[in-house]
Amino acid sequence: MLSHLLHLQGIDSVVVESRSRKYTEERVRAGVLEQGTADLLTETGVGARMKREGMVHYGVELRFGGCGHRIDFKDLANGRAIFVYPQNKVVADLFDARLAANGRIFVEAADVSVHDFGDASAQTRPKIRFRANGQPQEVECDFIAGCDGFHGVCRPSIPAGALTVFERIYPFGWLGILAEAPPSAEELIYAYHERGFALLSMRSPEISRLYIQCAPDEDISQWPDDRIWRELHIRLATADGKWKLTEGPILQKGVTGMRSFVVEPMQYGKLFLAGDAAHIVPPTGAKGLNLAASDVLVLSRALKEFYASGRKDLIESYSKTCLRRIWKAQRFSWWMTSMLHRFDTDNGFDQRRQLAELDYVTSSRAAAQSLAENYVGLPME
Ligand code: DHB
Repeated sequence: MLSHLLHLQGIDSVVVESRSRKYTEERVRAGVLEQGTADLLTETGVGARMKREGMVHYGVELRFGGCGHRIDFKDLANGRAIFVYPQNKVVADLFDARLAANGRIFVEAADVSVHDFGDASAQTRPKIRFRANGQPQEVECDFIAGCDGFHGVCRPSIPAGALTVFERIYPFGWLGILAEAPPSAEELIYAYHERGFALLSMRSPEISRLYIQCAPDEDISQWPDDRIWRELHIRLATADGKWKLTEGPILQKGVTGMRSFVVEPMQYGKLFLAGDAAHIVPPTGAKGLNLAASDVLVLSRALKEFYASGRKDLIESYSKTCLRRIWKAQRFSWWMTSMLHRFDTDNGFDQRRQLAELDYVTSSRAAAQSLAENYVGLPME
Protein backbone atom coordinates (compact mmCIF):
# COMPACT_ATOMS: atom_id res chain seq x y z
CA MET A 1 0.00 0.00 0.00
CA LEU A 2 2.81 2.41 0.92
CA SER A 3 4.61 1.68 -2.32
CA HIS A 4 1.39 2.39 -4.24
CA LEU A 5 0.76 5.68 -2.37
CA LEU A 6 4.36 6.80 -2.94
CA HIS A 7 4.13 5.96 -6.63
CA LEU A 8 1.06 8.21 -6.92
CA GLN A 9 3.22 11.05 -5.50
CA GLY A 10 6.00 10.33 -7.99
CA ILE A 11 8.25 8.79 -5.31
CA ASP A 12 10.19 5.66 -6.23
CA SER A 13 10.28 2.64 -3.90
CA VAL A 14 11.39 -0.97 -3.83
CA VAL A 15 9.34 -3.62 -2.00
CA VAL A 16 11.21 -6.49 -0.36
CA GLU A 17 8.86 -9.35 0.56
CA SER A 18 10.01 -12.56 2.19
CA ARG A 19 6.98 -14.59 1.02
CA SER A 20 5.91 -15.64 -2.45
CA ARG A 21 3.19 -13.72 -4.24
CA LYS A 22 0.99 -16.83 -4.09
CA TYR A 23 1.40 -17.09 -0.32
CA THR A 24 0.50 -13.44 0.32
CA GLU A 25 -2.52 -13.67 -1.96
CA GLU A 26 -3.85 -16.88 -0.47
CA ARG A 27 -3.15 -16.65 3.24
CA VAL A 28 -6.43 -16.03 5.06
CA ARG A 29 -6.15 -12.95 7.23
CA ALA A 30 -8.44 -10.11 8.33
CA GLY A 31 -11.60 -9.25 6.46
CA VAL A 32 -13.09 -5.99 7.67
CA LEU A 33 -12.17 -2.62 6.17
CA GLU A 34 -13.16 0.59 7.90
CA GLN A 35 -14.89 3.21 5.77
CA GLY A 36 -11.65 5.27 5.62
CA THR A 37 -9.57 2.28 4.47
CA ALA A 38 -12.11 1.42 1.78
CA ASP A 39 -12.21 5.08 0.67
CA LEU A 40 -8.42 5.15 0.47
CA LEU A 41 -8.41 2.11 -1.83
CA THR A 42 -11.12 3.64 -4.01
CA GLU A 43 -9.55 7.11 -4.17
CA THR A 44 -6.17 5.68 -5.14
CA GLY A 45 -7.56 3.53 -7.94
CA VAL A 46 -7.30 0.08 -6.34
CA GLY A 47 -10.91 -0.29 -5.16
CA ALA A 48 -12.60 -1.70 -8.27
CA ARG A 49 -12.69 -5.35 -7.20
CA MET A 50 -13.59 -4.38 -3.64
CA LYS A 51 -16.55 -2.47 -5.04
CA ARG A 52 -17.63 -5.50 -7.08
CA GLU A 53 -17.00 -8.30 -4.61
CA GLY A 54 -16.93 -6.60 -1.19
CA MET A 55 -19.98 -6.47 1.05
CA VAL A 56 -21.04 -3.18 2.62
CA HIS A 57 -22.39 -3.56 6.17
CA TYR A 58 -24.32 -0.81 7.93
CA GLY A 59 -24.41 -2.54 11.30
CA VAL A 60 -23.22 -5.36 13.53
CA GLU A 61 -25.06 -7.51 16.04
CA LEU A 62 -24.14 -8.00 19.68
CA ARG A 63 -25.71 -11.24 20.90
CA PHE A 64 -25.94 -12.06 24.62
CA GLY A 65 -28.44 -13.73 26.88
CA GLY A 66 -29.70 -15.52 23.77
CA CYS A 67 -30.86 -12.26 22.21
CA GLY A 68 -29.48 -10.17 19.34
CA HIS A 69 -29.10 -6.37 19.47
CA ARG A 70 -28.16 -4.44 16.34
CA ILE A 71 -25.78 -1.49 16.37
CA ASP A 72 -26.98 0.61 13.44
CA PHE A 73 -24.09 2.50 11.80
CA LYS A 74 -26.33 4.44 9.41
CA ASP A 75 -28.09 6.03 12.33
CA LEU A 76 -25.21 6.17 14.81
CA ALA A 77 -22.12 6.77 12.66
CA ASN A 78 -23.34 9.33 10.14
CA GLY A 79 -24.08 6.79 7.44
CA ARG A 80 -20.56 5.41 7.50
CA ALA A 81 -20.11 1.67 6.99
CA ILE A 82 -17.61 -1.18 7.01
CA PHE A 83 -16.61 -3.28 4.01
CA VAL A 84 -16.21 -7.02 4.28
CA TYR A 85 -13.41 -7.72 1.82
CA PRO A 86 -10.49 -10.03 2.62
CA GLN A 87 -7.02 -8.65 3.28
CA ASN A 88 -5.42 -11.18 0.92
CA LYS A 89 -7.51 -9.75 -1.92
CA VAL A 90 -6.40 -6.23 -0.99
CA VAL A 91 -2.81 -7.48 -1.24
CA ALA A 92 -3.52 -9.10 -4.63
CA ASP A 93 -5.09 -5.87 -5.94
CA LEU A 94 -2.06 -3.88 -4.79
CA PHE A 95 0.34 -6.38 -6.37
CA ASP A 96 -1.54 -5.94 -9.66
CA ALA A 97 -1.43 -2.16 -9.42
CA ARG A 98 2.28 -2.01 -8.60
CA LEU A 99 3.25 -4.45 -11.32
CA ALA A 100 1.06 -2.66 -13.89
CA ALA A 101 3.01 0.51 -13.05
CA ASN A 102 6.36 -1.34 -13.35
CA GLY A 103 6.89 -1.20 -9.60
CA ARG A 104 9.88 -3.13 -8.31
CA ILE A 105 8.96 -5.97 -5.96
CA PHE A 106 11.40 -8.63 -4.79
CA VAL A 107 9.49 -11.68 -3.54
CA GLU A 108 10.84 -14.67 -1.62
CA ALA A 109 13.67 -12.49 -0.33
CA ALA A 110 15.82 -14.39 2.19
CA ASP A 111 18.27 -13.25 4.87
CA VAL A 112 16.93 -9.69 4.85
CA SER A 113 18.88 -7.17 6.92
CA VAL A 114 18.75 -3.37 7.27
CA HIS A 115 21.78 -1.09 7.71
CA ASP A 116 22.97 2.52 8.13
CA PHE A 117 19.59 3.96 9.06
CA GLY A 118 20.35 5.14 12.60
CA ASP A 119 21.35 8.75 12.09
CA ALA A 120 18.66 10.91 10.51
CA SER A 121 21.14 13.64 9.56
CA ALA A 122 23.99 11.38 8.33
CA GLN A 123 25.06 11.50 4.69
CA THR A 124 25.38 7.70 4.49
CA ARG A 125 22.32 6.13 2.95
CA PRO A 126 20.33 3.29 4.50
CA LYS A 127 20.71 -0.12 2.89
CA ILE A 128 18.62 -3.29 2.70
CA ARG A 129 20.53 -6.49 2.01
CA PHE A 130 18.92 -9.80 1.12
CA ARG A 131 19.10 -12.76 -1.23
CA ALA A 132 16.66 -13.08 -4.11
CA ASN A 133 16.75 -15.53 -7.01
CA GLY A 134 19.81 -17.02 -5.34
CA GLN A 135 21.72 -13.73 -5.74
CA PRO A 136 22.86 -11.34 -3.01
CA GLN A 137 21.12 -7.97 -3.42
CA GLU A 138 21.57 -4.54 -1.92
CA VAL A 139 19.12 -1.66 -2.17
CA GLU A 140 20.38 1.77 -1.18
CA CYS A 141 17.69 4.29 -0.31
CA ASP A 142 16.76 7.52 1.48
CA PHE A 143 14.43 5.85 4.00
CA ILE A 144 13.39 2.35 5.08
CA ALA A 145 9.76 1.58 5.96
CA GLY A 146 9.56 -1.42 8.26
CA CYS A 147 6.22 -2.83 7.12
CA ASP A 148 7.42 -6.34 7.89
CA GLY A 149 5.03 -7.45 10.58
CA PHE A 150 5.41 -8.41 14.21
CA HIS A 151 8.10 -11.02 13.47
CA GLY A 152 9.96 -8.92 10.88
CA VAL A 153 13.61 -7.84 11.02
CA CYS A 154 13.16 -4.06 11.23
CA ARG A 155 12.03 -3.58 14.83
CA PRO A 156 14.75 -5.87 16.30
CA SER A 157 17.37 -4.02 14.21
CA ILE A 158 16.80 -0.87 16.25
CA PRO A 159 19.27 -0.72 19.18
CA ALA A 160 17.89 -2.07 22.45
CA GLY A 161 16.91 0.79 24.69
CA ALA A 162 15.72 3.09 21.90
CA LEU A 163 12.19 1.70 21.99
CA THR A 164 9.73 1.29 24.84
CA VAL A 165 7.35 -1.65 24.66
CA PHE A 166 3.80 -1.53 26.03
CA GLU A 167 2.17 -4.92 26.09
CA ARG A 168 -0.72 -6.98 27.38
CA ILE A 169 -1.17 -10.69 26.68
CA TYR A 170 -4.65 -12.19 27.02
CA PRO A 171 -5.31 -15.56 28.65
CA PHE A 172 -7.19 -16.85 25.59
CA GLY A 173 -6.99 -17.20 21.81
CA TRP A 174 -9.35 -17.59 18.86
CA LEU A 175 -9.93 -20.80 16.98
CA GLY A 176 -10.93 -19.64 13.49
CA ILE A 177 -12.45 -21.55 10.60
CA LEU A 178 -13.20 -20.80 6.98
CA ALA A 179 -16.22 -22.80 5.84
CA GLU A 180 -17.88 -23.36 2.52
CA ALA A 181 -21.25 -22.31 3.84
CA PRO A 182 -23.37 -19.25 3.05
CA PRO A 183 -23.13 -16.82 5.99
CA SER A 184 -26.00 -17.45 8.42
CA ALA A 185 -26.58 -13.72 8.91
CA GLU A 186 -26.26 -10.65 6.71
CA GLU A 187 -24.08 -8.85 9.24
CA LEU A 188 -21.38 -9.86 11.72
CA ILE A 189 -22.47 -11.32 15.05
CA TYR A 190 -20.34 -10.84 18.18
CA ALA A 191 -21.70 -13.34 20.71
CA TYR A 192 -21.09 -13.31 24.45
CA HIS A 193 -21.66 -16.70 26.06
CA GLU A 194 -20.78 -18.26 29.39
CA ARG A 195 -18.74 -20.88 27.50
CA GLY A 196 -16.77 -18.09 25.80
CA PHE A 197 -16.94 -15.65 22.92
CA ALA A 198 -18.00 -16.57 19.37
CA LEU A 199 -17.96 -14.50 16.17
CA LEU A 200 -19.78 -15.04 12.93
CA SER A 201 -18.15 -13.29 9.99
CA MET A 202 -17.84 -13.97 6.29
CA ARG A 203 -15.65 -13.61 3.24
CA SER A 204 -18.24 -13.81 0.44
CA PRO A 205 -21.88 -14.82 -0.06
CA GLU A 206 -20.65 -18.44 -0.21
CA ILE A 207 -17.93 -18.47 2.48
CA SER A 208 -18.35 -18.07 6.24
CA ARG A 209 -15.57 -17.14 8.65
CA LEU A 210 -16.25 -18.13 12.26
CA TYR A 211 -14.29 -17.92 15.49
CA ILE A 212 -14.59 -19.29 19.01
CA GLN A 213 -12.67 -18.27 22.09
CA CYS A 214 -10.24 -21.02 23.13
CA ALA A 215 -7.07 -21.45 25.18
CA PRO A 216 -4.09 -19.45 23.83
CA ASP A 217 -2.20 -22.71 23.23
CA GLU A 218 -5.24 -24.73 22.17
CA ASP A 219 -4.34 -27.97 20.43
CA ILE A 220 -6.20 -27.83 17.13
CA SER A 221 -5.98 -31.61 16.76
CA GLN A 222 -8.47 -31.83 19.65
CA TRP A 223 -11.02 -29.97 17.52
CA PRO A 224 -12.49 -32.19 14.83
CA ASP A 225 -14.98 -30.38 12.62
CA ASP A 226 -18.09 -31.67 14.40
CA ARG A 227 -16.80 -30.40 17.77
CA ILE A 228 -16.23 -26.93 16.30
CA TRP A 229 -19.74 -26.80 14.82
CA ARG A 230 -21.29 -28.06 18.05
CA GLU A 231 -19.59 -25.31 20.03
CA LEU A 232 -20.57 -22.65 17.49
CA HIS A 233 -24.22 -23.80 17.63
CA ILE A 234 -24.23 -23.50 21.43
CA ARG A 235 -22.51 -20.11 21.66
CA LEU A 236 -24.46 -18.48 18.83
CA ALA A 237 -27.91 -19.91 19.68
CA THR A 238 -30.84 -17.57 20.32
CA ALA A 239 -33.24 -18.23 23.20
CA ASP A 240 -36.23 -18.53 20.85
CA GLY A 241 -34.39 -21.25 18.91
CA LYS A 242 -35.32 -19.61 15.60
CA TRP A 243 -31.86 -18.65 14.38
CA LYS A 244 -30.08 -21.35 12.38
CA LEU A 245 -26.35 -21.74 11.80
CA THR A 246 -25.61 -23.16 8.36
CA GLU A 247 -22.78 -25.67 8.30
CA GLY A 248 -20.51 -26.57 5.42
CA PRO A 249 -17.13 -28.18 4.70
CA ILE A 250 -14.36 -26.56 6.74
CA LEU A 251 -11.71 -25.32 4.31
CA GLN A 252 -9.19 -24.15 6.87
CA LYS A 253 -8.75 -23.89 10.62
CA GLY A 254 -6.21 -22.38 12.99
CA VAL A 255 -5.58 -20.89 16.42
CA THR A 256 -4.34 -17.33 17.03
CA GLY A 257 -3.11 -15.88 20.29
CA MET A 258 -4.21 -12.43 21.37
CA ARG A 259 -2.10 -9.51 22.51
CA SER A 260 -2.05 -5.75 22.71
CA PHE A 261 1.41 -4.39 21.84
CA VAL A 262 2.84 -0.97 20.99
CA VAL A 263 6.41 0.27 20.61
CA GLU A 264 7.24 3.92 21.01
CA PRO A 265 8.53 5.73 19.10
CA MET A 266 7.76 4.24 15.69
CA GLN A 267 10.83 5.76 14.07
CA TYR A 268 14.55 5.59 14.56
CA GLY A 269 16.71 7.73 12.30
CA LYS A 270 15.69 6.95 8.73
CA LEU A 271 13.74 3.81 9.62
CA PHE A 272 9.98 4.01 10.15
CA LEU A 273 7.93 1.18 11.62
CA ALA A 274 4.37 0.72 10.34
CA GLY A 275 1.55 -1.73 10.96
CA ASP A 276 2.21 -4.92 12.93
CA ALA A 277 5.94 -4.15 13.08
CA ALA A 278 5.03 -1.41 15.57
CA HIS A 279 1.75 -2.53 17.10
CA ILE A 280 -0.62 -5.46 17.52
CA VAL A 281 -4.25 -5.31 18.61
CA PRO A 282 -6.34 -8.24 19.77
CA PRO A 283 -8.60 -9.10 16.81
CA THR A 284 -11.94 -8.18 18.41
CA GLY A 285 -13.14 -5.18 16.40
CA ALA A 286 -10.91 -5.90 13.39
CA LYS A 287 -8.57 -2.93 13.68
CA GLY A 288 -5.16 -4.42 12.72
CA LEU A 289 -5.25 -3.99 8.94
CA ASN A 290 -6.91 -0.60 9.25
CA LEU A 291 -4.19 0.74 11.54
CA ALA A 292 -1.55 -0.40 9.06
CA ALA A 293 -3.39 1.52 6.32
CA SER A 294 -3.54 4.74 8.36
CA ASP A 295 0.16 4.45 9.34
CA VAL A 296 1.27 4.26 5.71
CA LEU A 297 -1.07 7.07 4.68
CA VAL A 298 0.57 9.31 7.31
CA LEU A 299 4.04 8.20 6.18
CA SER A 300 3.30 8.77 2.48
CA ARG A 301 2.11 12.32 3.21
CA ALA A 302 5.20 13.03 5.31
CA LEU A 303 7.50 11.78 2.54
CA LYS A 304 5.57 13.73 -0.09
CA GLU A 305 6.11 16.92 1.92
CA PHE A 306 9.80 16.13 2.38
CA TYR A 307 10.46 15.56 -1.32
CA ALA A 308 8.34 18.53 -2.41
CA SER A 309 9.71 21.15 -0.04
CA GLY A 310 12.56 19.65 1.97
CA ARG A 311 10.48 20.15 5.11
CA LYS A 312 11.13 17.48 7.72
CA ASP A 313 8.47 18.34 10.29
CA LEU A 314 5.91 15.77 9.10
CA ILE A 315 8.60 13.09 9.01
CA GLU A 316 9.69 14.00 12.51
CA SER A 317 6.12 13.90 13.82
CA TYR A 318 5.25 10.59 12.05
CA SER A 319 5.34 8.55 15.25
CA LYS A 320 3.38 11.06 17.31
CA THR A 321 0.69 11.45 14.63
CA CYS A 322 0.25 7.68 14.25
CA LEU A 323 0.32 6.90 17.97
CA ARG A 324 -2.65 9.15 18.73
CA ARG A 325 -4.83 7.04 16.46
CA ILE A 326 -3.17 3.74 17.44
CA TRP A 327 -3.80 4.21 21.14
CA LYS A 328 -7.47 4.92 20.52
CA ALA A 329 -7.74 1.73 18.47
CA GLN A 330 -5.82 -0.10 21.22
CA ARG A 331 -8.32 1.16 23.74
CA PHE A 332 -11.27 0.09 21.58
CA SER A 333 -9.85 -3.38 20.82
CA TRP A 334 -9.01 -3.97 24.49
CA TRP A 335 -12.51 -2.79 25.49
CA MET A 336 -14.31 -5.00 22.95
CA THR A 337 -12.11 -7.94 24.01
CA SER A 338 -12.73 -7.36 27.72
CA MET A 339 -16.47 -7.01 27.23
CA LEU A 340 -16.95 -10.15 25.16
CA HIS A 341 -14.56 -12.84 26.43
CA ARG A 342 -14.79 -15.16 29.34
CA PHE A 343 -11.97 -14.76 31.88
CA ASP A 344 -11.02 -17.96 33.75
CA THR A 345 -10.10 -16.03 36.87
CA ASP A 346 -13.60 -14.58 37.08
CA ASN A 347 -15.44 -15.14 40.35
CA GLY A 348 -18.72 -13.94 38.86
CA PHE A 349 -17.99 -10.24 39.12
CA ASP A 350 -16.65 -9.89 35.58
CA GLN A 351 -19.56 -11.80 34.12
CA ARG A 352 -22.06 -9.45 35.73
CA ARG A 353 -20.00 -6.42 34.74
CA GLN A 354 -19.83 -7.66 31.13
CA LEU A 355 -23.57 -8.25 30.94
CA ALA A 356 -24.19 -4.79 32.40
CA GLU A 357 -21.82 -3.31 29.82
CA LEU A 358 -23.55 -5.13 26.95
CA ASP A 359 -26.93 -4.03 28.27
CA TYR A 360 -25.68 -0.44 28.50
CA VAL A 361 -24.09 -0.43 25.02
CA THR A 362 -27.28 -1.74 23.44
CA SER A 363 -29.71 0.48 25.35
CA SER A 364 -27.93 3.83 25.61
CA ARG A 365 -27.68 5.82 22.40
CA ALA A 366 -24.52 7.55 23.65
CA ALA A 367 -22.80 4.22 24.37
CA ALA A 368 -23.95 2.63 21.10
CA GLN A 369 -22.73 5.68 19.21
CA SER A 370 -19.30 5.39 20.79
CA LEU A 371 -19.04 1.75 19.69
CA ALA A 372 -20.30 2.60 16.19
CA GLU A 373 -17.92 5.50 15.53
CA ASN A 374 -14.93 3.46 16.68
CA TYR A 375 -16.04 0.40 14.71
CA VAL A 376 -16.43 2.22 11.37
CA GLY A 377 -13.12 3.92 12.14
CA LEU A 378 -11.89 7.17 13.66
CA PRO A 379 -10.43 9.74 11.22
CA MET A 380 -7.39 8.37 9.37
CA GLU A 381 -5.14 11.22 10.59
C1 DHB B 1 -13.17 -10.70 11.43
C2 DHB B 1 -12.16 -10.59 12.35
C3 DHB B 1 -12.35 -9.81 13.45
O1 DHB B 1 -11.37 -9.67 14.35
C4 DHB B 1 -13.52 -9.14 13.67
O2 DHB B 1 -13.67 -8.39 14.78
C5 DHB B 1 -14.51 -9.24 12.75
C6 DHB B 1 -14.32 -10.03 11.62
C7 DHB B 1 -12.96 -11.54 10.23
O3 DHB B 1 -11.90 -12.15 10.11
O4 DHB B 1 -13.87 -11.62 9.42
